Amino acid sequence: MRMVDLIAKKRDGCELSSDEIHFMIQGYTEGSIPDYQMSALTMAIFFKGMTEKECADLTMAMVQSGEQIDLSKIKGIKVDKHSTGGVGDTTTLVLGPLVASVGVPVAKMSGRGLGHTGGTIDKLESVKGFHVEIANDEFIELVNQNKIAVIGQSGNLTPADKKLYALRDVTATVDSIPLIASSIMSKKIAAGADAIVLDVKTGAGAFMKSLDDSRKLAKAMVQIGNNVGRKTMAVISDMSQPLGYAIGNALEVKEAIDTLKGKGPKDLTELCVTLGSHMVFLAEKAGSLKEARERLEKAIEEGKALEKFKTFVRSQGGDTSIVDHPEKLPQAKYQVELEAQEDGYVAEMTADEIGTAAMLLGAGRATKESSIDLAAGLVLRKKIGDKVVKGESLVTLYSNFENITEIKEKLNHAITISASKVEAPILLYEEITEP
Ligand code: URA
Ligand code: CA
Repeated sequence: MRMVDLIAKKRDGCELSSDEIHFMIQGYTEGSIPDYQMSALTMAIFFKGMTEKECADLTMAMVQSGEQIDLSKIKGIKVDKHSTGGVGDTTTLVLGPLVASVGVPVAKMSGRGLGHTGGTIDKLESVKGFHVEIANDEFIELVNQNKIAVIGQSGNLTPADKKLYALRDVTATVDSIPLIASSIMSKKIAAGADAIVLDVKTGAGAFMKSLDDSRKLAKAMVQIGNNVGRKTMAVISDMSQPLGYAIGNALEVKEAIDTLKGKGPKDLTELCVTLGSHMVFLAEKAGSLKEARERLEKAIEEGKALEKFKTFVRSQGGDTSIVDHPEKLPQAKYQVELEAQEDGYVAEMTADEIGTAAMLLGAGRATKESSIDLAAGLVLRKKIGDKVVKGESLVTLYSNFENITEIKEKLNHAITISASKVEAPILLYEEITEP
């Protein structure tokens, strides 16, 4: 087989066979296929697309390019959740303990964040003592015992995806739906998920800005999952503005705790209960979505979800007193209000610009090497559609820098106030499942 023939085949719009896709991914991972040939192929895919079968083959070839996590010693159906980007997205921190509290095993492998805010591990590390450096057997035992544990990303998962993603980044081929879908799904499958719930964000702060593209991405991922034997469904949710109020590591931990107490932001709570219901249903811990939702709502009401969060934090060395004493979480030196400059209604709170402001305060990493300030971030005081009076706070900034004038200017730029009434955006657009 010759790579040049495969490039020509895709250039001419033909379907690559399973053997051809495996040959190409294996050769690229090993280094026998050079970057320039792979670049030509990804550009051909960018223009000609991939069939459903090609996407499934590409996903599995990338899964098989490296290590695969074996979760078979964990009892029950392991359902993983994936959110496609987003700003101030606290869903993982809430969902883990929430679904674990009704018996769904959550074996989470997580990474550190790049950009807007930290990853799940960064967030959890704002709890004193919490650590994710645990051995594989201990991880499995913890999940069997408590139904939830988080471990740091280790080993060599999907090396083909790592190499290919880096190449796409510098060849203007990131924005290809079949390539994005295979990339995301390969990582979930290699991490050992039996079933997958996808939270595909849409809007200004999301990877996919239009609903139509978000729907296409969601469909492509759902098809891949189901074609390779993992029950998969997707929810399309709004990211025109940040989810919840808090953006920043310790601030999001506090927001997650509030949500588990039943006192969280409405949008975050609703999205978590919706995604959670699908997880519970796919894990076969409820006979219907309605029953799944009822179980989760009850777990929040009766304090079981919060109790599970404490057990989880304690088992991984964390100080659980932060649950009742959030002031023990890392605190920023300065707290500054961004005041509304006119009366009206909030019309825009562009999620990615707000995320960038949080990063500049230190809540996220600009590069992989930057350090993170766990206390820094933003808490929104208003959301789209809310009425504001001149002088009222729109956002509270938590900072360890004294001079943040430029960051405040950026935030002002991200927020638009309109004189006339504005509707709040839809939170949940649609659900995509396959028969
Ligand atoms: N996120 C991924 O993991 N892969 C992509 O290709 C794009 C976004
Ligand atoms: Ca949030």
